[in-house]
Amino acid sequence: MNGNLIWLALGLCFSSVLCSLENYTTDSLDVALQDLALKSLDRHRPHTGALYKAMLPANLSGMKVSIVRLRSRRLWNIGANFSNFHIPSRTITVPHVRRLAIVYQDFGNWSSLYYSVPGYLMIAPVTGFMVFDASNVRARRITKLSLNTTGKPIVIRFSNLTFSEGMISRARCATFSSNGTLHLSKMSMLSVCYSQDQGHFTIVVPLKRRPSLWYLWVLGFVLGFGVLVLVGYLGVVSLKLLKTKKIQVMEKQADEDLVLDTIWVGGSKMPSATVTRTQPVLEDGSFP
Ligand SMILES: *[C@@H]1O[C@H](CO)[C@@H](O)[C@H](O)[C@H]1NC(C)=O
Ligand SMILES: *[C@@H]1O[C@H](CO)[C@@H](O)[C@H](O)[C@H]1NC(C)=O
Ligand SMILES: *[C@@H]1O[C@H](CO)[C@@H](O)[C@H](O)[C@H]1NC(C)=O
Ligand SMILES: *[C@@H]1O[C@H](CO)[C@@H](O)[C@H](O)[C@H]1NC(C)=O
Ligand SMILES: *[C@@H]1O[C@H](CO)[C@@H](O)[C@H](O)[C@H]1NC(C)=O
Ligand SMILES: *[C@@H]1O[C@H](CO)[C@@H](O)[C@H](O)[C@H]1NC(C)=O
Ligand SMILES: *[C@@H]1O[C@H](CO)[C@@H](O)[C@H](O)[C@H]1NC(C)=O
Repeated sequence: MNGNLIWLALGLCFSSVLCSLENYTTDSLDVALQDLALKSLDRHRPHTGALYKAMLPANLSGMKVSIVRLRSRRLWNIGANFSNFHIPSRTITVPHVRRLAIVYQDFGNWSSLYYSVPGYLMIAPVTGFMVFDASNVRARRITKLSLNTTGKPIVIRFSNLTFSEGMISRARCATFSSNGTLHLSKMSMLSVCYSQDQGHFTIVVPLKRRPSLWYLWVLGFVLGFGVLVLVGYLGVVSLKLLKTKKIQVMEKQADEDLVLDTIWVGGSKMPSATVTRTQPVLEDGSFP
């Protein structure tokens, strides 16, 4: 029985490990890409307000990373319109810094390796941007900042979408916030999403029930396994019961044989053992 419980626990662990695979962890990749982007700034004599493409190692080919440095005053006055992201004017960084750097990422064919939305299919690559304090880039003390757009939206444009007007009601903008939460919102315009802060973004459409089937398989497996364990346990228990009953019957038989034996020895003609067990009572009620 203890063995069965351990197997059942193992089965449950297995299914929960599968579930936790959907947890996305791109923090280390983000830091690596940010480093590469900053190194590409070192190679140029960087002009503020110019976008630079980062050189990526061969094992990241297919991704695109670029970086721009801006003065906070410029962000406030005219905003930032680079790489498919439009950050509106009257935007401030929190906390306030004098210079900032924005690193833009396009995950391209790597998108589904690092990001997934359970139950949905991604129909656009994951793109994103991160904002850093660039007041002292040489010091290599990079502080991540957040943005306050004072209510106005940041506009994210997706180019090259193979997706028709008719799908817009089913499509959703997926936002992976920097705090690790996923948020889905309806689309009001083809190929455009909105945000209030930095993060990673993509467009998704619902899958046709395939992941739930997959879950049903796992559920069925776990349930079936449980039933199997239960049936096995019941089988063992009933076998044991049958065995003890058989032994009891055999013992009873032996008892009766013994009683009958003594009766034969006694020379009496009583036909059944049970009757011999009760004392014979005479018609008039007195004992012999
Ligand atoms: C991912 O896992 C970490 C720890 O394992 C947890 O702190 C974080 O909230 C998880 N993120 C999501 C989106 O589930
Ligand atoms: C790419 O290769 C570099 C070494 O050249 C390594 O440090 C890095 O972890 C690799 N990145 C990925 C995503 O495999
Ligand atoms: C993405 O495409 C590039 C070629 O454009 C290829 O070298 C790379 O291996 C691909 N990455 C993935 C994760 O498929
Ligand atoms: C941002 O730049 C794109 C071209 O890169 C341009 O088409 C678009 O109109 C610009 N948006 C604003 C609000 O200036
Ligand atoms: C953004 O800035 C405005 C004006 O400076 C302020 O009223 C608002 O509370 C700020 N919002 C956040 C989320 O910090
Ligand atoms: C859009 O697609 C064309 C051809 O399919 C390609 O040349 C171009 O680079 C793509 N643009 C982007 C932004 O991916
Ligand atoms: C994460 O950030 C998003 C927006 O940036 C916000 O709406 C959400 O409440 C945050 N969640 C947590 C747990 O901090």
